[in-house]
Amino acid sequence: MRTRKFGKSGLETSVIGFGGWPMGKGQYGALDEDHATAAVRAAYDSGVTLFDTAAVYGWGYGEQLMARALKPFRKNVILVTKGGRRWVQGQTDRTRSTVSDSSPEYLRSGLEESLNRLQTDYIDLYLIHWPDPTRPFSTPMEALEEAKAAGKIRHYGVSNFSVPQMSESLKHGQIVCNQVGYHIFDRRPEAETFPFVQKNGVGIMAYGSMAHGLLTGAWKRDQAFGEDDWRRTGKNFGLTTWAPENLPKNIGVVEKLKKLARGHGKSVAQLAVAWALGNPAVTVALCGAKTPAEIKEDLGGDWEMPSSLRDEINRLVLAEGAGLGKVGDPGP
Ligand SMILES: NC(=O)c1ccc[n+]([C@@H]2O[C@H](COP(=O)([O-])OP(=O)(O)OC[C@H]3O[C@@H](n4cnc5c(N)ncnc54)[C@H](OP(=O)(O)O)[C@@H]3O)[C@@H](O)[C@H]2O)c1
Repeated sequence: MRTRKFGKSGLETSVIGFGGWPMGKGQYGALDEDHATAAVRAAYDSGVTLFDTAAVYGWGYGEQLMARALKPFRKNVILVTKGGRRWVQGQTDRTRSTVSDSSPEYLRSGLEESLNRLQTDYIDLYLIHWPDPTRPFSTPMEALEEAKAAGKIRHYGVSNFSVPQMSESLKHGQIVCNQVGYHIFDRRPEAETFPFVQKNGVGIMAYGSMAHGLLTGAWKRDQAFGEDDWRRTGKNFGLTTWAPENLPKNIGVVEKLKKLARGHGKSVAQLAVAWALGNPAVTVALCGAKTPAEIKEDLGGDWEMPSSLRDEINRLVLAEGAGLGKVGDPGP
């Protein structure tokens, strides 16, 4: 497994990171806890050193399950979690069930709760999950500096921040990375976010490398999701890539991508992960997985894609895809 450094921070991890949202029971469809913890183990055994979770995944359950899975080797890995997102108990409408809160009080108490659920006395990399536009960006940076000085976190960063929000944050703190959505169907960060982070020595952790499952080739034209799966709404971070009107078209694109992948001895999931890693701004591509077999396949995405293949993919998706995030479109 290749490794990369996060900008100028000195933090270095495997290029593929394990994504922990599917472990957030109740949010990402059916989950077998034993298979999920075995997937974490399989990732570690294959050289993955970065494991990502968040306080809101399964309303705390995702962190607890991640702690259980990491227990035998926690000290050997970079554990990433995210906070600053308050959840409303019992609210089933996902769009209204969480709200950003970067007040020092909430960040302090949220960090303590995460440490407790993760059964650890430090977080390697702590991220502000979503920007809180109701207060100055100096506020979370000061809280993160305080936590760092206390030894509770080793590095910190942000997630889903725009360029002005990152720019403001950097005046007050040393953000190591921005975690943003990036995959073959979503190229929104390429226009502004990526040039900015490269200029400022900040890393990128890309999420949804396999378009949250669509780019694994496992979905059907009439793919249905259960009540406990956020994907059932058809909306993904401001896009409509698998809304009913777009899904058949995009399944057609995935079928063509499968053929391209086969030509290089890869699966479409491996093509998707390599595509995300192929952008020089990307430090780590996160892969969410529920079983050892899934993550083992996804880790085959650690290969260098020829630029001609990348161009071919981009042309195909632009011409035939629907509900896309295009270069320069505003972020979520
Ligand atoms: N900061 C943020 O706001 C944010 C937002 C989203 C994600 N994230 C992070 O980024 C990580 C990655 O994103 P993601 O998990 O949403 O999406 P993803 O990695 O693109 O896709 C994950 C899903 O695809 C399916 N899958 C994975 N490998 C497969 C394989 N080989 N064959 C068949 N199906 C396979 C699994 O779901 P099914 O089997 O159920 O289809 C899995 O849960 C998350 O886990 C989370 O840690 C962060």
